[in-house]
Amino acid sequence: MKSFLKSLRTRYAFYRQCYLDAKRFRDSISPGKLGPAAAVARIEGDIVRQYHVIEKGLTMQDFRPGFGKDVVRGLVRSMRAMEKHPCAARCDSGQLAAARATLREYHERHAALGHDISEILPDNCRDLWENATPGDGGSRPFTPVAPGDADAFERVVRSRASVRSFDAARTPSRETIMAAVDLAMRSPSVCNRQTARVHVFTGADAQRALSFQSGNRGFGHRIPMVIIVTSDLRYFTGTAERYQGWIDGGMFSMLLLLALHTQGLGAVSLNWSVNNERDRELRKAVTIPEYERVIMLIGCGYPAQNALIPVSLRRAGSEITRWNFPVVPT
Ligand SMILES: Cc1cc2nc3c(=O)[nH]c(=O)nc-3n(C[C@H](O)[C@H](O)[C@H](O)COP(=O)(O)O)c2cc1C
Repeated sequence: MKSFLKSLRTRYAFYRQCYLDAKRFRDSISPGKLGPAAAVARIEGDIVRQYHVIEKGLTMQDFRPGFGKDVVRGLVRSMRAMEKHPCAARCDSGQLAAARATLREYHERHAALGHDISEILPDNCRDLWENATPGDGGSRPFTPVAPGDADAFERVVRSRASVRSFDAARTPSRETIMAAVDLAMRSPSVCNRQTARVHVFTGADAQRALSFQSGNRGFGHRIPMVIIVTSDLRYFTGTAERYQGWIDGGMFSMLLLLALHTQGLGAVSLNWSVNNERDRELRKAVTIPEYERVIMLIGCGYPAQNALIPVSLRRAGSEITRWNFPVVPT
């Protein structure tokens, strides 16, 4: 009886946490739950998703004239909705420029083929794209990596390691961190929605953030800077995307770790494997909005002289790779 009750309690606690995770996601993607200012992100997310679908169509080897008509119309509707929104000024102007340039290329590619798209992109939408700057969005040529660059990349990847010994007296500059963040923005994300967000804390604020995290014992007190990576859930559209924030945020974090390393910094990933109660404490202390999901923390600073790192042996790639195993016939 006692063990049955215990298992019931454990199960309840587990499903409660899953429910709270789901609730955060649901609330963040529901326009009704967001104030008008926050809801702009939702329309911006639609714009990015829609123009990116068109961008992809523009790169297809087999160009299909008239492709994506519903998406083009949807994009026009989203751009018009943004124009009318009282908080439109909060929309990322770069993303709007990309949407306009994409529409412009869509128009020009069809015009070059003599294919009439007036049903899809009528003349009264001309204002949306005619002043666009080509190159802000649409397609561009792919540049394969140069051989020397591949070696450099391998050296960067192989030399990166989690650093837990920091020079506590040196705090990285804003420029150094921003250079790394800008590079990390090159990480892929679903429909290029770029939901990763970065919160940077130094000194006592960094220590306060670390006080909620359990994996920095023994070295956290010497960490001069903490970066909290989150994902802005407002940009997601439905249940099927419920885990996308963790994936996009994780990929962003990996690239950020490499970028910090190339800046000569040491960095250590710090797990955010916590229940919603602890999550609430951290977000309250460091003011992270409800619609952002904390992905992980990163301790960061200049490595101490003669810093040691664990060997952290890796399995061979062949151990974890499966090639052409039998596929069940349909
Ligand atoms: C999501 C994530 C969370 C982690 N959390 C911690 C942590 O809380 N404390 C810690 O010391 N290391 C943490 N690590 C670092 C791992 O221990 C480390 O990446 C792994 O052992 C491989 O070593 P390397 O990073 O030096 O290659 C974390 C790594 C990841 C990816």
